[in-house]
Amino acid sequence: MTTSHEQALPGVIGSSAAIREVARTTRQVAPARAAVLIVGETGSGKELIARAIHDLSPRQSGPYIRVNCGALTESLLESELFGHVKGSFTGALDNRTGRFEAAHTGSIFLDEINSTSPKLQVKLLRVLQEGEFERVGDTRTNKVDTRLIAATNRDLLDEIDSGRFREDLYYRLNVVPIYLPPLRERREDIPILVEFFLKRYSDQNRRDVRRVSAEAMRRLREHDWPGNVRELQNYVERGVVLGEGPELTVEHLPPQLRGEAPPRPIRARTSDPAALTAELVRQGLRAAGPQANNLYDRIVGQVERELIEQVLASCERVQIKAAARLGINRNTLHKKLAEFRIDENGQSLPPIGDLPDEM
Ligand SMILES: Nc1ncnc2c1ncn2[C@@H]1O[C@H](COP(=O)(O)OP(=O)(O)OP(=O)(O)O)[C@@H](O)[C@H]1O
Ligand SMILES: [Mg+2]
Repeated sequence: MTTSHEQALPGVIGSSAAIREVARTTRQVAPARAAVLIVGETGSGKELIARAIHDLSPRQSGPYIRVNCGALTESLLESELFGHVKGSFTGALDNRTGRFEAAHTGSIFLDEINSTSPKLQVKLLRVLQEGEFERVGDTRTNKVDTRLIAATNRDLLDEIDSGRFREDLYYRLNVVPIYLPPLRERREDIPILVEFFLKRYSDQNRRDVRRVSAEAMRRLREHDWPGNVRELQNYVERGVVLGEGPELTVEHLPPQLRGEAPPRPIRARTSDPAALTAELVRQGLRAAGPQANNLYDRIVGQVERELIEQVLASCERVQIKAAARLGINRNTLHKKLAEFRIDENGQSLPPIGDLPDEM
């Protein structure tokens, strides 16, 4: 016998046991007042579930306010959430209402709650427990009636261990956790998700791609999906846009799925060394794909190459200057350039194996 709690959620595609469990919990918690914590990797559908909770709750006619806590600095986030009074900090030119006040009688969705500071977490705990807070720079206490829905893509227990997340707030939030499993753990949902997105993007692009070849589907089912449903959605959209006939085939899939992941050129948008390295490592990991081995050499090699290229460029390609700036011996630089097959002008040379005289 199916109960009303077992119905699928509108807009949430999937029939795996895992997704049915998510739907059941979502329907159970939606009518209540308690905070909800949604846990899942990037692209797994946390925002979709947050919205469903609001829409299925008695607060559905009230406001639904979303704040991405990861997108703002600590002080901006505090004033965004709680508001401020005129003159409370440089730039506070007027009184301002915060998002909690805006969410009165409705729900507030705090995305990436793991990136809030411990100071802000104290304030969140109080608003959660007492419904009370003060605007930044104000002494008057405000009352608000809103339902808190939070999401995290990190394991909060790890964050507690490393001192970045308050345990008391965690227990308040974790009353009813909803765990969204990564797509690779519910591969049986892939075909219906593909079908759903095929229809959506065919309609949007005035195409009529109706099926997926057996080989393309096999690749889609076997992929590891580090970007989860969002990644799948992007690939299907790409396939629909690139495809001509009624069938999506392997040729319309991106290189990672065709088994020919070429090492992507790495480009960074920052010159801060720590940020640059982190960005290069991230891009390198993404480019290498989940199955790659000898990651250490591959990524350190890529980071090293980018560093040398940037410093050479900043020294007008004068090697002796670049070596001094890098703090390495000129011969070492010379050897590295040969190893990376970079010529004097910074052009890439063909790999050694392609040169007939070296065979
Ligand atoms: N089960 C699903 N059915 C249909 N669409 C889905 C499903 N899960 C995710 N999507 C779609 O995939 C995209 C990513 O989902 P969503 O934004 O909810 O992920 P998220 O977990 O919030 O990701 P992030 O952590 O990166 O913010 C959205 O366009 C969403 O509509
Ligand atoms: Mg999200």
